[in-house]
Amino acid sequence: MKILAIESSCDEFSVAILDEDKILCNVISSQIDQHKEYGGVVPELAARLHLENCGWVLQEALEQSQVDLEEIDQIAYTDHPGLIGSLIIGKVVAQTLGLYLNKPVQGYDHIQGHIFGTAINHDFVYPVLAMVASGGHTQIELVNSPNDFQIIGSTEDDAIGECYDKVARVMGLSYPGGPVIDKLAKTGNPDAYDLPLAKNDATYDFSYSGLKTAMINLIHRLNQKNEPLPLNDLAASFQKQAMKIIEIKLARAIQTYHPKTLTVGGGVSANTLLRTIIQQLGTKYQLEQTIIPDLAYCTDNAAMMAKLAYEKQKVS
Ligand code: KG4
Ligand code: ZN
Repeated sequence: MKILAIESSCDEFSVAILDEDKILCNVISSQIDQHKEYGGVVPELAARLHLENCGWVLQEALEQSQVDLEEIDQIAYTDHPGLIGSLIIGKVVAQTLGLYLNKPVQGYDHIQGHIFGTAINHDFVYPVLAMVASGGHTQIELVNSPNDFQIIGSTEDDAIGECYDKVARVMGLSYPGGPVIDKLAKTGNPDAYDLPLAKNDATYDFSYSGLKTAMINLIHRLNQKNEPLPLNDLAASFQKQAMKIIEIKLARAIQTYHPKTLTVGGGVSANTLLRTIIQQLGTKYQLEQTIIPDLAYCTDNAAMMAKLAYEKQKVS
C-alpha cells in the first residue's frame, strides 16, 4: 500500500511517499529564509509560499520515489493544529488529489505525527512515553497504541521552541533561534547566570514564559553596560534551565506510567542537550528502548504523517 502524505501546518510544505513501512521520499520546501527578516513565521506569507511551492514539491516527490500518481492508494494530510491558512493549502491539495485519483483522503494530528516520526526506522514497544518539544508545543503523551494517545501534560503559554526563538531574537541571533542557541551553548558556561526553573510543580504541564521574561530582562540589563553580550554563556545558562524542567517532569512520568519506550519528537528534539537527557533517562530507568529520532524527522516533515497514517491503519 502506498500512502502520499502532505504536511503544511507551519512554514514547511512537505510531501512524502511511503510504501508499506518504507519511506520512499520526504521532500521539504523550507521558508526559513523568507521569514528570517521578520524574526519569526508570518502566517499570511507562509500560506502564500505554500501556494507557490506545493506544485514542485509534489512533482519532486513523485520523481524521487519513482512512483506514478496513479499508484497512490491513500492520501494523508495534517489537519490540525497549525496556522489555518497553511493547513488549508495542504488540505486542498490532498482533497484535489483524492478526487482526481478517487482514493481515500484522511486528516491527521500534527503532534501525533511528531511522535510517530520518531518511530521511522525504530519500531515502538508499547506503552510509549513521548516528549513532544516543538515551536508550538511542549507536551508529554502516553501512547498505548497508534489509536490511543493520552495527553499527560501540555503547554500553558510559550512552547519551548517559541521560547528559544524569542530569546534568540533578543540576543540578536537569526531565526530560527533554537539551533543557533544550541550551537553557542556548546562552548558556554551553563552556570554563568542564575535563571528560574519554569513551572517546577506537581503537574506535567509546561510554562516557558517566566524563563523567557527572565532572559529578556537579563539581556536588557547586560545591554545597558554597552559591552558585547556573552552569547555562549547566556545560551548555555538558558538551555540548561529550559531542559532541566523536561528532565524533572519526564523522570516523574516514567516512574508513574512505567513506559517500555521513551522517545522525543518535534523540532526541539534536534537539541544536543535534550537528546543526551533522553538517552540518560532511558538508561537510568532501564527502559526497554529509548528512541533518539533521526535528525531528518525532527522538524516538520511529511514522512512523519505518512508513518502515523500507516501505523494507525495497521491496527484498525
Ligand atoms: O516541529 P517544528 O519544526 O515546528 C513546529 O511544529 O513548531 O519545530 C520548530 C522549532 C523552532 O522553534 C526551532 O527553533 C526549534 O524547533 N529547534 C531547536 C533546534 N532545532 C530546531 N530548538 C533547540 N535546539 C535545536 N537544535
Ligand atoms: Zn511541528
